[in-house]
Amino acid sequence: MKILNIVGARPNFMKIAPIHREMRKISAIEPLLVHTGQHYDEKMSKLFFEDLNLPEPDVYLGIGSGTHTQQTARIMLAFEEVLEEQKPDLILVVGDVNSTAACSLVASKMHIKIAQVEAGLRSFDRTMPEEINRMITDTLSDFLFVTEKSGLENLKNEGISDNKVFFCGNVMIDSLVYFLEKAKESSILSDLEINGDPYMLVTLHRPSNVDVKENLEKLLKVFAELSSQLKIVFPMHPRTRKMMDSFGLSEDADAIDNLIITEPIGYLDFMQLMQNARLVLTDSGGIQEETTYLKIPCLTVRENTERPVTIEVGTNILLGSDPENIITAANDIFAGKMKDGSIPELWDGKAAERIVKILKVFAGTNINLKDKLIKFYE
Ligand code: UD1
Repeated sequence: MKILNIVGARPNFMKIAPIHREMRKISAIEPLLVHTGQHYDEKMSKLFFEDLNLPEPDVYLGIGSGTHTQQTARIMLAFEEVLEEQKPDLILVVGDVNSTAACSLVASKMHIKIAQVEAGLRSFDRTMPEEINRMITDTLSDFLFVTEKSGLENLKNEGISDNKVFFCGNVMIDSLVYFLEKAKESSILSDLEINGDPYMLVTLHRPSNVDVKENLEKLLKVFAELSSQLKIVFPMHPRTRKMMDSFGLSEDADAIDNLIITEPIGYLDFMQLMQNARLVLTDSGGIQEETTYLKIPCLTVRENTERPVTIEVGTNILLGSDPENIITAANDIFAGKMKDGSIPELWDGKAAERIVKILKVFAGTNINLKDKLIKFYE
């Protein structure tokens, strides 16, 4: 069974790594790695391949940046040729980035089966490009692997047949579990001269936060206020860097004492920063999940989340972008008033194992056979 595992952007790499590793253990499966090149910088891509022990991609499309339509269309044109040449039995996509949706569309038109890992998540906010990507990919997929129970509910409400849906856990957490000890060897804390200091870790890259000058300004004011109490480490996404420069805000940021702005940081260094942080402030999806697993307080600067389990069970707090709310929530954490989180069901480091086991059983057969398998996860 030939399977093309697709990656494109930074959050895809740690999701595909455990799946690709698991597939390579099985002689009946020939996994190939396809990188669309949606993210292409050394620090957004290559560093992650190294940290995650991912092999060089078998196919690299070199798509690069552009408007959503340009990027999606370029991926589709290039990926059609890959499918014509490789003729896989199945493609496997992860997450919700433009590469995920673009490759799914092409495969479905060519009658090639699709497995979607991280299916069913919904923010119910169609202004988010990721929400559109999720809906397209879920609709087209033959295997939908779900990370949390809200995903099962959402897919059911959208009329997607239960026969195709599998609750398997979270592959992003697989990577975290697998690399946690190795991450502890990272020298990032001493490199940034924050060894032993309490600090807040920040990531921001959502268009709703960083593409609007007033919103970025408000967040800088929050940092100025909080930086009197602790250091703030802010590895800056290229999109955020570009917007800060174009709004003329980079000097304001540099003027804030205790605000340490860095280039994007590799996987192992970032895990080390996250597991030692006093709190994390973010608008990322994956970081809400990783902080929940690590039981580190997380303040999410968004109006909604497609990962409600991180709030219901985990340490995540959804705050919106009101500066007062953010400052109050951070002060509560400094005062020791923290959520007591626990780890969501099946986030145990074995999601990829379950996924590959299911693909091995079902691929090439009638997937309605699911009804006949009783004890799947044993
Ligand atoms: C993409 C994903 C988002 C994910 C994020 C993680 C979509 C719709 N968005 O957003 O879901 O959370 O990745 O990082 O797929 N750039 C570089 N170097 C790079 C990559 C990007 O400089 O290696 C710059 C480019 O100027 C580009 C901008 O960042 O225009 C945005 O990149 P893009 O891939 O369009 O979206 P992200 O904001 O990274």
